[in-house]
Amino acid sequence: MNPENQATAGPLSSIPALGSGIGFRRELKQDILDARDEIDFIEVVTEQYLTDSNQLTELEELRDIFPIVPHGVRLSIGSAALDQEYLRAIKLVSDTCRAPYYSEHLAVTRAPGIEIGHLSPLWFTEAVLEQTVNNVLRVQDTLGKPLILENITYLFDIPRATMTQTEFLGRLVESTGCGILLDLTNLYTNATNHDFDPLAALDGLPLDKVVQLHLAGGYWSQGILIDAHCEPVAQGTWALLEALANRVQVKACILEHDDNFPDHFSVLSDQVRRAREFVERRRVEEPYGP
Ligand SMILES: [Fe+2]
Repeated sequence: MNPENQATAGPLSSIPALGSGIGFRRELKQDILDARDEIDFIEVVTEQYLTDSNQLTELEELRDIFPIVPHGVRLSIGSAALDQEYLRAIKLVSDTCRAPYYSEHLAVTRAPGIEIGHLSPLWFTEAVLEQTVNNVLRVQDTLGKPLILENITYLFDIPRATMTQTEFLGRLVESTGCGILLDLTNLYTNATNHDFDPLAALDGLPLDKVVQLHLAGGYWSQGILIDAHCEPVAQGTWALLEALANRVQVKACILEHDDNFPDHFSVLSDQVRRAREFVERRRVEEPYGP
């Protein structure tokens, strides 16, 4: 990695372990506040804080209670050019959160003149890699902190790619000093839908660059597993978390639950607690390790 890139964004290794937390959703606000002792940190969706200053006040209030990490959805890091106005807007949210990193998706949501409206996979080619490297450097330079990028689900491979998603992500991380937000449910979902071995895919990633995890639960529809964030985390995803925790220290993990909210928050807080066992495992064991 170019040392200048690291100087701008700061090294990933200096990011502290944040523990086990949950994605903040307004439907869950009171439950999350009531369960504050069981939640190490929260993740907020950047787009919910972009339109008026009252929303930033809520963010400041939350920041006094929890460490907060911002998670955006409309950066479109793989597009030919970034939206400068959007970049300025997310810096305000990023600064307000005072988080050690900013997270987004390895995706495109926009092409010139078109808002796609959802997260779409990149075309894994040299040209797209080059423009994505430039975009990541620009974002890190603007925000003054590392960007971490999340693996997304996809329904089909874009033809004539010249590298795999794993290779693309590895080279992007190497060239920019950015980190990985590894969504284990997305990995499990892709492995299930596209019939590949998720453990082999896990081992193909630069696991020492994984800064944070996502866990969620989806459902089956017409033979396809959908990453809908509306059900408990599946056993296959927990197994991947166990496998990952056996390989590296898990520093931060967020449970995402966006819909079909359970009657009792304990359904969610129990999963946060279960994830914490893996976050804390290596921290406890490490002093005794080789
Ligand atoms: Fe996710």
